[in-house]
Amino acid sequence: MDKPNIVITRKIAQPAIEQLRAIGNLTIWPKRIPPSSETLLKMVTECAALLCLLTDRIDEDLLVAAPHLRVVSTMSVGYEHIDIESCRKRGIHVGHTPGILTETTADFTIALILSVARRIPEAADFARSGEWQTWEPELLLGQDLGESTIGIVGLGRVGQAVARRAFAFGSRLLYHDTNRDIKTEEDLKIKAVPLDELLIQSDIVTLHVPLTETTHHLIGSSQLEMMKPTAILINTSRGSVVHIAALLQALQEGKITAAGLDVTDPEPLPHNHPLYQLPNCLITPHIASAGATTRTKMALMAVDNLLAGLEGRPLPHPVI
Ligand code: GLV
Repeated sequence: MDKPNIVITRKIAQPAIEQLRAIGNLTIWPKRIPPSSETLLKMVTECAALLCLLTDRIDEDLLVAAPHLRVVSTMSVGYEHIDIESCRKRGIHVGHTPGILTETTADFTIALILSVARRIPEAADFARSGEWQTWEPELLLGQDLGESTIGIVGLGRVGQAVARRAFAFGSRLLYHDTNRDIKTEEDLKIKAVPLDELLIQSDIVTLHVPLTETTHHLIGSSQLEMMKPTAILINTSRGSVVHIAALLQALQEGKITAAGLDVTDPEPLPHNHPLYQLPNCLITPHIASAGATTRTKMALMAVDNLLAGLEGRPLPHPVI
């Protein structure tokens, strides 16, 4: 029997590639920058299975161009880049990689919180630039985590993992979610509050919602206005959950004190964007899940989904 054609839209962990090479004819996009939509359309014409990343738009045009496609497997937990309804209509399975990146993403969120709250990039620049002259009682004062109220927006897998870590720091915890989680509330002494209340009370607001029509621009100028002037905003979810122009203005005008962003809108944020100029804004290039082991596990999980889809078995981690 002919081997199925499999397209992988970037070079991923070698063990994952080897598993796929054993069963299919692989086309792997070789460059660091993703293929353009036009190129991707050409790549998928004969393909039965597509392993994609969050940078690839899997839309109606692509599905029309790929009449043999049986499964789309994204190496990400988020799947807002995939037109799920169009896949459903065509009977194409869609898989993603939930759970496996939760702890690593929560670790990174805490790293971002601490970096911003304790002003680590500013302090490193200060030392490197030769400004360090003596120990000073009021040099580079930051926020004590144990004295802070942390507001978690979205208490899903990552939100909960962040809450567990913040609980260990002794922070007071609030959350806002569409669902109540009574067990986590009791275990971590975390209190459910409306979003406005969370924004008003928190010293650190950290975002952990998926990107949907409801969460798009969830944090805009009126929400930033509600936050304390001393507050910090952290985003490791999706860039467009925050209205980026409103955030720039809030930081410039001192409406909030600082921000830590692992995700931006657009992505990448152009290198001349004014947010990069602000000492109170720390931007990292969407690396919250970038643990070496985690990324290999994500690739292998994406392979498991893809193989199941090709073989007509239920996907182990289905979106549909
Ligand atoms: C990363 O942002 C993911 O969705 O996996």
